[in-house]
Amino acid sequence: MIVETAGLTKRYGENTVLSGLDLKVAEGSVLALLGPNGAGKTTTIRILSTLTRPDEGSARIAGFDVVRSPAAVRGVISLTGQYAAVDEEQTGRENLLMIARLRRFRRSAARVRTSELLERFQLPDVADRRVRTYSGGLRRRLDLAMSLVARPRLLFLDEPTTGLDPVSRTTMWDAVGDLVREGVTIFLTTQYLEEADRLADRIVVLDNGNVVADGTADALKNSVGGARLDLTFPSCEDAARAHVLVGGVTDGPTVSVPSDGSATHLHRVLDDLLTAGVRPDRVSTHRPTLDDVFTTLTGAAA
Ligand SMILES: Nc1ncnc2c1ncn2[C@@H]1O[C@H](COP(=O)(O)OP(=O)(O)OP(=O)(O)O)[C@@H](O)[C@H]1O
Ligand SMILES: [Mg+2]
Repeated sequence: MIVETAGLTKRYGENTVLSGLDLKVAEGSVLALLGPNGAGKTTTIRILSTLTRPDEGSARIAGFDVVRSPAAVRGVISLTGQYAAVDEEQTGRENLLMIARLRRFRRSAARVRTSELLERFQLPDVADRRVRTYSGGLRRRLDLAMSLVARPRLLFLDEPTTGLDPVSRTTMWDAVGDLVREGVTIFLTTQYLEEADRLADRIVVLDNGNVVADGTADALKNSVGGARLDLTFPSCEDAARAHVLVGGVTDGPTVSVPSDGSATHLHRVLDDLLTAGVRPDRVSTHRPTLDDVFTTLTGAAA
């Protein structure tokens, strides 16, 4: 486990922000921490990246305790914050070179790494412009590039695509996908269900400092009532006959059957119907979305 926390607790005055958080993240995986504003996502990342100390409990990164061995932890991780931290008065290239030099790259190696990263994040055209002329999306990409200068084992991304347009968001997702293929573990926070669905192997939903759900996107969707199959027939009589054969509930000419959303189930239902000579006109399946999950679990509108 590259991340392991036990009973992690953090308070600000009367406000208990994290109450006994237990988390384990396997190396090479992508974990999405999902939750409404104020759920404690950034606080979790700040503790895991040694920027804030927990009040109780413990956290280890690659076996190093975040409180007792912060320097060792920092050697393993990299962090891209919720608010991009770049030097506005320098160019993108200068920002990258500066980080590389801080990370003790030799001058020529720093130049090579900088070019690689500019290329990968599709920044070469703007590399020699001052950052203050960048759009939010360019800034975010530069920020991500900066967090990768030293090839971390574990990368924290705090809301990496908040405020980005759909194109920049896709670029960011692709970049994250490349990192995952290289074996980098990603710990990201997001308020976008689509993002969690798309990137994460595992989703942890945080609400008021507690884990309210933990699993794959599919498992979470299934936990909210599962999928259903809607079969629409040419007449209400046909629907009534189908209802006798396959169960579910009838609404006019439509029968809705609970389903696991699999092709096997669809096949079996259609087989039963066609064998009995009842033929639906239309078939559709409904899978609950992560939005449904989020709303059900946190009571918050996503
Ligand atoms: N330095 C601080 N001092 C006092 N309260 C804080 C501090 N940092 C965070 N908090 C409080 O802790 C709670 C959790 O904040 P946190 O930033 O972790 O939430 P978040 O899940 O990242 O929210 P968002 O989606 O808005 O980024 C909030 O109620 C916040 O006001
Ligand atoms: Mg936050």
